[in-house]
Amino acid sequence: MKVQSVGAALLAGVATCAAESFRPIPTLPASIDNGENILPTIMNNSAVDAQAVCPGYKLMHMRETKSGVDARLYLAGKACNVYGTDIDQLQLRVQYQTRDRLSVQIFPANIPEGQEPWYIVNDEQVQRPLDRMPVGPNGSDWEFSYVASPFSFEVKRKSTGDVVFSTSGTKLVFENQFVEWKTSLPSNANIYGLGDIISENFELKGANRTIYAADIGDSPEANLYGAHPFYLDHRYVKVNGKTKGYAHGVYSRNFHGQDILVREGGITWRTIGGSIDLFFFSGPTPAKVTRSYVTEIGKPALPQYWTLGFHQCRWGYANITELDDVVKNYQKFQIPVETIWSDIDYMDQYRDWTVDENTFPQAEFKTFLDGLHAQHLHWVPIVDAAIYVPNPSNGSESYASYDRGHALDVFMKNEDGSEYIGAVWPGFTVFPDWSAPNVQEWWTNEFLAWFKEIPFDGIWLDMNEVSSFCVGSCGSGQVDMNPVHPPFSLPGEKGSIIYSYPEGFNLTNATEAAAAASSSKAQDAYNSKVNPPSTVTTPYYQIPAVTPNVRNINHPPYAINNAQGSHDLAIHAVSPNATHHDGSSDYDVHSLWGFLETKATFEALLKVFPGKRPFLLARSTAPGSGKYTAHWGGDNASTFYYMRKSIQQALNFGLFGIPFFGVDTCGFGGNSDLELCSRWMQLSAFFTFYRNHNIISANSQEAYVWADVASASKTAMSIRYSLLPYFYTLMYHAHKSGSTVLRALSWEFPDDENLINNDYQFMVGGGLMVLPALDQGVTKVTGYFPTDGSTTWYDWYTGAATFSDGKNHTVDAPLGHIPVYVRGGHILPLQAPALTTYQARKNPFEILVALDKSGTASGSVYIDDGESQNVKDALFVALRATKTSLSLNGVSIGNLNNLKSYLTNVATVYVLGVSAKPSAVKVAGSENCQFEYDSQTKKLTIKLPSSFVYSKGKQQITWA
Ligand code: NOJ
Repeated sequence: MKVQSVGAALLAGVATCAAESFRPIPTLPASIDNGENILPTIMNNSAVDAQAVCPGYKLMHMRETKSGVDARLYLAGKACNVYGTDIDQLQLRVQYQTRDRLSVQIFPANIPEGQEPWYIVNDEQVQRPLDRMPVGPNGSDWEFSYVASPFSFEVKRKSTGDVVFSTSGTKLVFENQFVEWKTSLPSNANIYGLGDIISENFELKGANRTIYAADIGDSPEANLYGAHPFYLDHRYVKVNGKTKGYAHGVYSRNFHGQDILVREGGITWRTIGGSIDLFFFSGPTPAKVTRSYVTEIGKPALPQYWTLGFHQCRWGYANITELDDVVKNYQKFQIPVETIWSDIDYMDQYRDWTVDENTFPQAEFKTFLDGLHAQHLHWVPIVDAAIYVPNPSNGSESYASYDRGHALDVFMKNEDGSEYIGAVWPGFTVFPDWSAPNVQEWWTNEFLAWFKEIPFDGIWLDMNEVSSFCVGSCGSGQVDMNPVHPPFSLPGEKGSIIYSYPEGFNLTNATEAAAAASSSKAQDAYNSKVNPPSTVTTPYYQIPAVTPNVRNINHPPYAINNAQGSHDLAIHAVSPNATHHDGSSDYDVHSLWGFLETKATFEALLKVFPGKRPFLLARSTAPGSGKYTAHWGGDNASTFYYMRKSIQQALNFGLFGIPFFGVDTCGFGGNSDLELCSRWMQLSAFFTFYRNHNIISANSQEAYVWADVASASKTAMSIRYSLLPYFYTLMYHAHKSGSTVLRALSWEFPDDENLINNDYQFMVGGGLMVLPALDQGVTKVTGYFPTDGSTTWYDWYTGAATFSDGKNHTVDAPLGHIPVYVRGGHILPLQAPALTTYQARKNPFEILVALDKSGTASGSVYIDDGESQNVKDALFVALRATKTSLSLNGVSIGNLNNLKSYLTNVATVYVLGVSAKPSAVKVAGSENCQFEYDSQTKKLTIKLPSSFVYSKGKQQITWA
């Protein structure tokens, strides 16, 4: 680490760029974020293959336990010490935990407590699927078998007879900084998940999945913000001439930096620490796999109802008037808006829990927020991970949040016990240590105190990978320079003016595109003059040889393929050698920082809003994050490419148990344009979390900026707001059972092999399919209409049955129209839309019944107050339809009178696929209702009496 050497470089940087910045403060030199130029081991052709030189292990002392087996593994030959020091003895523990869940653990044995050579995930921090009432081998769908020497094992699913995981023919390598195991894959395996990464294909064969939380922007194939070592394997086999799909899941509970190489014949797992802690989920449907996995890591939170409304954000809303104007413009153009967000602009010099008295004066701001609340609107501010360190030699500067944290000793440290000081937006900063005894108290109190002044409605957690703009504790001994400017220019500052546009912008706006291209060229020329591209090729840093029993955490001998900078783990992040109160180094828990921050913030908000569900949006996530937070896809760009990839991101985060997901709609980096923004506002309307967000200095992209985008947004939003009861019910099911909300078609039609790589369409729950136009200039879109034999698809807009034959079809998708289909067999609860969720909840409900080929359908609706953390009053109504009836069966808890204002009447029932006009429609067998029948579309519309409300018990509507 170059901790000591940055000072001189710092001072050298001060004079040069300060004048180019928004803020007249010293700018850190770019070199402060330069680490070593490291060659990732997977790209190093001369890297030693551990399989070729390591001895493997032999199994002995096998013993049956209540839940499975325990055994010892002994190194089977001379230590190879290839990327660390070999561990002589390991413990193997196999637990048949439930019928569908098997746990296989391998961890160092015979090490006295407290002397473990490294950190193994703390069960209190990251929930571990437990061996509560083990079923044992006989009660399990799994069968574990092994070969004693060299040790290898296989995991077979009994019900299908297939071996889902086999290390046969390979060696286990277990060193203090390198653990490798290899598993084989049959040719029909299809692997999904293993994130947080955006990739070329939805299915992962051929992909390198590196897991290490990074603040890197959404580069394809790069390790992004979170760590999710979970995969779904979906295999297709022929049974009696018919294709059947079988799925299972594998969770590798390890959060050290790791490379997972997914290849045709198998997967290579390499991690630079921790243990092997595998869980197998037997499915065999994808839905069952995710439910089991998500149940074990922590089922997702039920969001407050209002958070399903539309959110407008941008980096660059510079003052209260701008925020106010945005809200007023949405209202003026009658486009729904629920929440206005503030990025770091509102803060006093980017310091958490402050406001800038010049632009967001506290008293005026409070009045503004009170005004929003009076209209049932909301405000969500960003809170960054890094805490500004006040300049000790500037007597007029104080930052009480830091002082209080410092007094309570809650920040991460250097090995010498001093505070670890990195750099983020405000300048030199420290970082909360989530294992510090007082950290929760401090964190909660900061939010509590701030809320008294500034009544926020939720919190947006950013930069929590945890990001730092320099290598090592670069601020040590330098804080009297604070505040300092980041070591790069911010968008909009000289040299970083945004000139990029979506693909095809030159076709729709040639003049502007040409002007932007020429300005961009001039800027490139300027930049290369100021910072001439280096002609020197930096040689790769040679990782020092392994020192027995000593870990080199700064430069681990096995270099993972970290995409950040020149691959050094210390670049643009808190460095591996930062330490925590519990003795762990950042090296060991790096990818969990954001998750732990989220947990702590959730606890804090429970205190700020007693009894209410906290609303959080977090960038860095890990298994179990869904219990606490929503997530957005990070820094995408305003391109059709990223709009397309947003679907893959949403599906993956569904697998990872974070169903409350959205992306920066219309694109974050670069300028958006009318066509992209119009398509994207429509697409995101079908995501659970719906937010438009933009980088500072890019062109404005609120929905009202272009008339066509406004009208496209209104169309899609009116569908979304009608579907709010459906979305909320889906989130309720996710919360209760771990089910997904946005779904890949392959999960809903698991026997159809054509869907392996389909991540350009998606389902919302089981009942709605979205087929968006994702390319520039198109007016039609081709999509697949799967069938399970009884499927009928209905066009959302007309209600008429459409293609239902398991084939591709091309449909019209002019700008402003997003093709959406209702799946027969499903009943969707609806409510008339409005401009806010508050108003929408006052409108009458509607029910959309879509009959399948056999003339049946089912669904449900869940209703509560939309905000209580511990729900006391709630109604759940199961909906079931036949060719001639709709029955409602309600069960409730608590007192439904308390939900009166949400239990508006059910005004209309639409039934799709009714073959002939009924002669009468009756409620409860007696009361006749008004109805209409469209013989062309076969849609029956029933107007219910105004007294009809969802209730407990049975109700029935019949037509014949
Ligand atoms: C990075 C976040 O990903 C982005 O959404 C935000 O606008 C910037 N930080 C500035 O806070």
